[in-house]
Amino acid sequence: MATSIPADNVPDMEKRKLLNLLLLGALSLPSAGMLLPYTYFFVPPGGSGAGGGTVAKDALGNDVVAAEWLKVHGPNDRTLTQGLKGDPTYLVVESDRTLATYGINAVCTHLGCVVPWNAAENKFLCPCHGSQYNNQGKVVRGPAPLSLALAHADVNVDDGKVVFVPWVETDFRTGDAPWWS
Ligand code: FES
Repeated sequence: MATSIPADNVPDMEKRKLLNLLLLGALSLPSAGMLLPYTYFFVPPGGSGAGGGTVAKDALGNDVVAAEWLKVHGPNDRTLTQGLKGDPTYLVVESDRTLATYGINAVCTHLGCVVPWNAAENKFLCPCHGSQYNNQGKVVRGPAPLSLALAHADVNVDDGKVVFVPWVETDFRTGDAPWWS
């Protein structure tokens, strides 16, 4: 026996379509709004230096120019500059008076104190809890669990400025993957 639905029980299709449209709009508008910040997040802003690096700044906030730096910083010098994400980062002058191709992040891997360079001891000595790092920033005494982070220190061919670039390769001091990247 066939049953038929009375005409007045059939939902109003136009009303349903309208409700669906309103629901879709309510869902998609916030999503579209959220998409924009995400897009900005994944598209790096311009003007951050060559290849996504950051130009090193000296204590006065001036860009570090390699040739000028080497005139006043002798062999085995380690002097703080401002590096990636504003982190204090040592520029290293090698014993042959060239600039090392890496910078050493000065933030102690124990609890984050800035670790001073001690030229007499040829080590970085953390004043907070006594951790020690060798002259390349490799941890040689705890409680610090890890070596100081590295960054590439490149020299821009156009203007001679020192540019820090994230170090994502193997840590040459330990042979391990970089814990900081
Ligand atoms: Fe450097 Fe604790 S913060 S040893």
